[in-house]
Amino acid sequence: MADPVAHVEKRVAAAFAEVGGDKAIGVDTAVRQSDRADAQIDGCLALAKAMGLAPRDVATRVLAAVDLHDICSAAEVAGPGFINLTFHHEFLARELVTVAASARLGVRKAKHARKVVIDYSAPNVAKEMHVGHLRSTVIGDALARMLMFVGHDVTRENHVGDWGTPFGMLIEHLVDLGETQAANELSVGDLDSFYRGARKKFDDSEAFQARARSRVVKLQGGDGETLRLWRILVAESTTYFQTIYRTLGVLLETTDVMGESAYNDLLPQVVQRLSDAKMLVVSDGAEVVFPSGFTNRENQPLPLIIRKSDGGYNYATSDLACVIDRVERLRADLLIYVVGAPQAQHLEMVAAVAAQVGWLKSPCEMVHVAFGNVLGADKKMLKSRSGDAVKLDALLIEAVERAANAVTEKNPELSSQTKDEVARFVGLGSVKYADLSTDRVKDYIFDWERMLSFDGNTAPYLQYAHARICSIFRRANVEREAAKDFSPKISHAAERALALRLLQFDSAVWDTIDKYSPHRLCAYLYELATSFSSFYERCPVLKATDQDERNSRLMLCDLTARTLQTGLDLLGIDAPEQM
Ligand code: ARG
Repeated sequence: MADPVAHVEKRVAAAFAEVGGDKAIGVDTAVRQSDRADAQIDGCLALAKAMGLAPRDVATRVLAAVDLHDICSAAEVAGPGFINLTFHHEFLARELVTVAASARLGVRKAKHARKVVIDYSAPNVAKEMHVGHLRSTVIGDALARMLMFVGHDVTRENHVGDWGTPFGMLIEHLVDLGETQAANELSVGDLDSFYRGARKKFDDSEAFQARARSRVVKLQGGDGETLRLWRILVAESTTYFQTIYRTLGVLLETTDVMGESAYNDLLPQVVQRLSDAKMLVVSDGAEVVFPSGFTNRENQPLPLIIRKSDGGYNYATSDLACVIDRVERLRADLLIYVVGAPQAQHLEMVAAVAAQVGWLKSPCEMVHVAFGNVLGADKKMLKSRSGDAVKLDALLIEAVERAANAVTEKNPELSSQTKDEVARFVGLGSVKYADLSTDRVKDYIFDWERMLSFDGNTAPYLQYAHARICSIFRRANVEREAAKDFSPKISHAAERALALRLLQFDSAVWDTIDKYSPHRLCAYLYELATSFSSFYERCPVLKATDQDERNSRLMLCDLTARTLQTGLDLLGIDAPEQM
């Protein structure tokens, strides 16, 4: 436990219990960051209210009951009844040494490692990946990295949409185009025009509709030739998705693909088991389940359709099969779904049914990590200039091009090879960071200027802060490795502010994981970079007159760079050493 705040918290909770007895139950004993001191306890106000006493008196009693002498140099009642804390310099220095010595930079491992399945990205075969899939990919990847970092056993699953009725028309379109031509279109990522071509024929021609329908029946019946054609669609699309993943630098591999089709054999079992549990009812010719607590606008119970009247299975059926597979085969106890907010009800209903039938039992839980839309400058859904859906590969190429311009402007001296690499890190980092740094449940506006700016809560700002520290070491001619072991001496206010931030990395990572909200880690890294910047303005490092002071400051520089780099890495963003 590196965070000094967390150190104090346990003792404070005990003091609250001692002073308030039963009245302290439920009172928030949190120790928070403060502008006036290093930290602040504000729960005495609530405790005083519960006890019917004056807040300042209660704060005085709490202070008398808690021993913080080894941590704090000052602990005082302030204002209406807050307790302000100032940490000992020596205590901060000791904690910094511990954090600097650990490769994990003080981040605690999970108390109990969980078996996690994280479902993310999940584009649809023969359909362009849209910005919603980009969000899922970027957020899911960051969460996967963090969960692994704290020691969970993480399985990534890419629930690609590779099954269902549209495949009838897609396969017939492939037959019309000829396999080679179709494969060419798909592998270069011309997915939308392929899909539109199929759709148009389907809408215009009854004969084509009939062909598509009988093709679906063949596909579901396992007809060999149909499956062969279907595999072409899947393989070519997967190749295209994989090129996007490589460009983005996300962890997803082809071996992570567990598409809807992978659950095909389990679907009859879903029906059987729901029927055995007496949960399946026939409604309008379809077999459905009515999970309790779900109603439509007219207050009628809402069905989850398991098998349609034509005998076909549904999206929900494969998601139920998915739960069975993840819990019973993979033995997962945490199922995470990084899926857009519009699918909230679908996932809630799936979870409710799975819980009701007994497939999902505590401690096993299903978590929907929902996210909002990506909007254009006009605050409408992001569209390309032609008004079509934005193609992700073109978007990423544009990001790197724009970053190359920004980088050249900032530092014309970079060699062209370094510049190319930096442009890639900055361009892709900017797109990812813009997505990760806003609260995921909100919509965000896709704005090139803002995301590529070297100021503000952006990837380039953090990457630049990191590169600047690397350059301090180059100029100092000191090895970063050596600086790790220099002793910190915290005296200047800006040093202490930076030290406090550095010690909060553990809580920032955990807070992010607990809420599945990457923007929390982004906010922390941004605060760290700004604390560093004011430290660097006020406290000379290379020009420090005293050798111990210079070393101590180099140690703070190194730890800041490592924290920025590790934090960015947890978000899936590279931090170049030069910019
Ligand atoms: N393919 C779906 C879509 O594009 C997302 C799948 C999400 N995962 C799931 N298990 N339902 O909307």
